[in-house]
Amino acid sequence: MRVLSGIQPTGRPHWGNYFGAIRQYIELQEENDGFYFIADLHALTTVREAEMLRQYTLDSAMDLLALGLDPNKATLFVQSQVPEVSELTWLLMTGTPMGLLERCHAYKEKKAKGIPADAGLFTYPVLMASDILAYDSQVVPVGEDQVQHIEVCRDLAGSFNHAFGETFVMPKAKTLDHSAKVPGTDGQKMSKSYSNTLPLFGDVKKIRKQIMRITTDSRPMDDPKEPEDDHLFQLYRLFGSAEQTEAMAAMYRRGGFGYGEVKKAVADASETYFAEARSRRAELESNLDYVHEVLRNGAERAREVAGEVLGRAQRACGLR
Ligand code: TYM
Repeated sequence: MRVLSGIQPTGRPHWGNYFGAIRQYIELQEENDGFYFIADLHALTTVREAEMLRQYTLDSAMDLLALGLDPNKATLFVQSQVPEVSELTWLLMTGTPMGLLERCHAYKEKKAKGIPADAGLFTYPVLMASDILAYDSQVVPVGEDQVQHIEVCRDLAGSFNHAFGETFVMPKAKTLDHSAKVPGTDGQKMSKSYSNTLPLFGDVKKIRKQIMRITTDSRPMDDPKEPEDDHLFQLYRLFGSAEQTEAMAAMYRRGGFGYGEVKKAVADASETYFAEARSRRAELESNLDYVHEVLRNGAERAREVAGEVLGRAQRACGLR
């Protein structure tokens, strides 16, 4: 099965990125033909400094490798290194109804907040559709916030196929039950744009401090609490085994505990969970030639596939 997904290099990855998406990449690379990329063209809609974009792009590649993405099992590349995707974007753009893009949340939210949006942000879902369709992707592992974009992709593939004959493979989103929408430190969805993220890498002490500052309600300690409604519990569940999670849920229902204890448990569990990836990341930092080689090889393989699909689409619509 062809599995594909991408992550924007707009800063350091956070728990939401890992538990919603990256963890799936790693699991799915075992039995499938995985294509994973760093979406630098998408990041251009927010990162407007060349050196920063280059650094974030390289950082993201190291993050994915450190977390367990294996270049012998999956193809890892940088989006802009496959120009076929940008070319395919235009083909799709010509059949994209404006209304469809106006309903997409990234654009809608910015507009609602009165933030000026550019054409890149507006047409962002079309580039994303092209990312997916260019590799005949069947499964797209993502967090909940990307599901709408995959629906747009399916719409665009369907209308192209309808107009020009069967050309594109119809992809499907894949989300995980408990972590499709990981909450941030304030209980809203964890997101770089809400400044409520907990990073995977970085200074452990600083991260611990951020965890200790997670907002909680002010109900008395003795009150029994419903764990499912509490974002701190939802964060704990990401790391705890089934038994540990059950024990924590029972503690919530009994009451008589302090949120400080839970925060400490979250901090301890997360430190252990990411310890190995942290040391692998440090090794990669001193082996940048290897990282560049992985990305070069990945782009070469990706271009082969995308070139074939682009050719198919061009022939279908009369460009060749
Ligand atoms: P990005 O970079 O915002 O996020 C990368 C992945 O992390 C998931 N995610 C979350 N999952 C659970 N809980 C959260 N709080 C959370 N925050 C983020 C996202 O759903 C995503 O799967 N447009 C994409 C990048 C992209 C792409 C693609 C993805 C470009 N082309 C083609 C799939 C297929 C994005 O901005 O992801």
